[in-house]
Amino acid sequence: MANTEKRTFDRLMVTGGCGFIGSNFIRYLLTETDYSGKIINVDRLTYAGNPFNLIDIEKKFPESYRFIAADIGNAKQMDDLFADYQIDAVCHFAAESHVDRSILEPDPFVQTNIVGTCVLLEISRKYSHQLKLFHHISTDEVFGSLGDTGYFTENSPYQPNSPYSASKAASDHMVCAYGKTYGLPFTLSNCSNNFGPFQFPEKLIPLMTLNALEYKSLPVYGDGKNVRDWLYVTDHCRAIWTIMTSGKTGNIYAIGGDAEMQNIEVVKQICTSLDYLLPSENKNRLDLITFVKDRPGHDHRYAIDCSKIKQTLGWKPVENFQSGLEKTISWYIHHKEWVKQVQSGEYRQWIEKQYLSS
Ligand code: NAD
Ligand code: TYD
Repeated sequence: MANTEKRTFDRLMVTGGCGFIGSNFIRYLLTETDYSGKIINVDRLTYAGNPFNLIDIEKKFPESYRFIAADIGNAKQMDDLFADYQIDAVCHFAAESHVDRSILEPDPFVQTNIVGTCVLLEISRKYSHQLKLFHHISTDEVFGSLGDTGYFTENSPYQPNSPYSASKAASDHMVCAYGKTYGLPFTLSNCSNNFGPFQFPEKLIPLMTLNALEYKSLPVYGDGKNVRDWLYVTDHCRAIWTIMTSGKTGNIYAIGGDAEMQNIEVVKQICTSLDYLLPSENKNRLDLITFVKDRPGHDHRYAIDCSKIKQTLGWKPVENFQSGLEKTISWYIHHKEWVKQVQSGEYRQWIEKQYLSS
């Protein structure tokens, strides 16, 4: 490993830690690393935020883990948290994250992804005397769409096409600007599509898995030939922690799974796996595939060249697409209560009562 810089933190603020990747990251830090500081999870609990994702962690690590229901766009709340908890690092996941929702209603994406990130940056600047690192989680979607060949790298030009990716691009630029202008110590990662446990079932893999389990229609957009580069979520979490502890300040890292797949191939693999695990005598899940109207502005292909993080920090994915998919499908099969709560919306009642009623 060429890089020898090592950072340690004592009071890490994780934003959006009740969502899919954030909750996996907190679980990973507390159960699979030697991190011994505190984690302050700040999440506004939108539809995608579910504290139930970490209920066992909250019980098991009462000294290390604290959840605070708060909006990153609320400067007063963020200021108080930085002061009260003496935050010395931020890992910023909080975002509106679903492209289809951004097409229907862009405003929450502008508010959280752009304005919210700016609020957090400004508070980080105010507390720069205590802040060691601001790590910004971004996406490969900021680079736009590839043709059939080529890869995104850290140097690819920004060409976002959806309100989601445009809002993430804006936040990336603000993070870099705070680095250049004010000397904010930051790192930034642009990752490809994640999959794994606790992903909200509006995204491709959990949606298709749960629909296929119930023999419901599997809606594939357009001709299904759009390509995504899939990464198992724990591999993403390991990459983030590697960057936070060993990455160079002011550097950007592209992260991917070396697992390019057409959407139709992903859906077929889900069907085949489920037919093998839970067969039915007279039903074949491949028959559930239905081609539907395409997403407007649908990016054709994403693919990441992640040589930089591999060569400079020694990270590489542990799971391949097949092994990650097996784990993911098995998780959704064995977490019926989580699925029921989320699909029925019951989890929202619990959240309202527990966290948002006052
Ligand atoms: P998610 O939608 O599952 O979780 C987002 C979390 O942020 C939720 O818990 C939500 O309640 C919280 N949140 C939203 N607005 C907030 C606000 N104003 N204040 C505080 N909390 C707020 O998203 P995810 O898939 O876990 O993605 C996390 C991050 O990773 C995002 O920044 C996303 O752009 C990025 N990313 C995601 C993927 C992917 O495939 N899912 C890939 C690359 C990058
Ligand atoms: P998604 O999981 O929404 O992630 P992103 O848009 O951020 O890449 O979608 C992954 C791919 O799957 C994308 O090309 C759109 C496609 N897709 C479908 O074909 N059908 C669906 O029902 C969904 C949700 C996505």
